[in-house]
Amino acid sequence: MAKARKGKAAKAVGGTSTLADAERALRLSEAHLRSVLETVPDAIIVIDDHGIIESFSPAAERLFGYKEAAVVGRNVNMLMPSPYREQHDGYLARYLTTGERRIIGIGRVVVGQRADGSTFPMELAVGEITLDDRRRLFTGFVRDITERQTTRERLHELQSELLRASRLSSMGQMASALAHELNQPLTAVINYVQACRRLLASGNGAALERLQETMDKAVSQANRAGQIIHRMRQFIQKGDTDRQVESINKLIEEASALALVGAKESGILVRLELSSELPPVLVDRIQIQQVLVNLIRNSVEALSTAPRRELTIKTYKSNGEMVEVAVADSGPGLDEAVAKQLFQPFITTKARGMGLGLSISRSIIDAHGGRLWAVPVPQSGVSFQFTLPAAEPAP
Ligand SMILES: Nc1ncnc2c1ncn2[C@@H]1O[C@H](COP(=O)(O)OP(=O)(O)OP(=O)(O)O)[C@@H](O)[C@H]1O
Ligand SMILES: [Mg+2]
Repeated sequence: MAKARKGKAAKAVGGTSTLADAERALRLSEAHLRSVLETVPDAIIVIDDHGIIESFSPAAERLFGYKEAAVVGRNVNMLMPSPYREQHDGYLARYLTTGERRIIGIGRVVVGQRADGSTFPMELAVGEITLDDRRRLFTGFVRDITERQTTRERLHELQSELLRASRLSSMGQMASALAHELNQPLTAVINYVQACRRLLASGNGAALERLQETMDKAVSQANRAGQIIHRMRQFIQKGDTDRQVESINKLIEEASALALVGAKESGILVRLELSSELPPVLVDRIQIQQVLVNLIRNSVEALSTAPRRELTIKTYKSNGEMVEVAVADSGPGLDEAVAKQLFQPFITTKARGMGLGLSISRSIIDAHGGRLWAVPVPQSGVSFQFTLPAAEPAP
C-alpha cells in the first residue's frame, strides 16, 4: 500500500490536478486505515522507540479504560503492572541495542493493567516498522484472553500444552481411576456397616460373633481405600518429574490465564502482584501450574457467591532461599468442618467437587521441598500460600 501511494505522489509532481488527486487518495487511504483500526477487535497500540504511545485504538480504550488523549505522549509501561512497568524501558533499550527478540514477532501471554488498577492476562503480538527518517515504531496487538470469545482457541492450545505433558494427563486419568477404584471398598464399607446395624438390631446373642467379623471386614475395606490414596500420593512424589529452572512469575501468568477464563464476566477483580526480585525455581512446570490452577479455581469458585469479588496473586521472597506465592480471595473463607481436615483427600463442600485439588497440590509442593498452607484473610476470605526453594545458582 505504501509503495502504491509513493508511486502516485511521484506522478503528481508538476500537475496541480494530479496533486489534488494524490491528496484525495492519501486522505482516502488514511480514512480507510482509521476505519480498519476502529473496527478491529484487537486493541492496537503504537509506540515509538522510547516506549512513548503514539496512538491508541478504540478497542484499546475499551480494554484499558483510558481515552486515547489520556495516554498519547505517555510511556506505554503505564499499561503494565509492576514489575514489568519498571522493566519495560530496559527491555526496549536492550532490543534496540542487541536486536534480541523476546516478544517482537513472537507474541506471548503477558499481564496488562487497566485504568482502575485491575490486571488481566493478555496475548501480545508486536510488529515493527522503520520509517523513512529511520525512526522505529512498534505496533502492539493486544487481546484480553480472559474476555474474548476467540481466546477459547488460544486457551485450548495452552490447555492441550499442559495436557500433553503426560504427568497431568496421567494424573487426570489417575483421578478418575481412583474415584472408580475407591467406589468399591467404600460401597463395601457401607454395606458392612449396614449389616452390623441389622445384626445389632436383631438383639440376638449369636449375632455377636458375626458382628465382629463384619466389622473387621469394614475396617479392612476402609484400609484398602486408604492404601489406594497412599499409592496415588507416592506416584505423584516419586514419579520421574521433569524439573527445570523456571521463573515463577511466568508460570503464574500462564496458569492464571488458563484458570481465569470467565472470571471477568463473573465480576472478579484480579490483581497480579509479582515481585521482580525473585530467584528462579527448579520445578516441574506442569505440576506447579496444576497447583496454581487448583488454587485459582478454588478461589474463583468461592467468589461466585461473594458480595466483594477480589482475587490477588502475589509473589515475594520468603525466609531463607525460598520463593513464596499467595493466592488470596475475598470469598466466604473456609468452612469450619473443612478447615480441620483441609488437604485431606475427598474433603469437599462442592456438589461436583472431588475434594482432590488441595491434597494433590500439597503432595506436589511437598515433593518439591516446599510447604503449602492456608491462612484466613482478616475481613473475609482465605489465602493459600506455598513456598518453593530457589534454584541453586549454576556452578
Ligand atoms: N478459596 C477457598 N475458599 C473457601 N473454601 C475453599 C477454598 N479453597 C478450598 N476450599 C474448601 O476446601 C475444599 C477442598 O478443596 P479441594 O480443591 O481439595 O476440592 P474441591 O475444590 O472441593 O474439588 P476438586 O477436586 O474439584 O478440586 C473445598 O470443597 C472448599 O470447601
Ligand atoms: Mg478444588
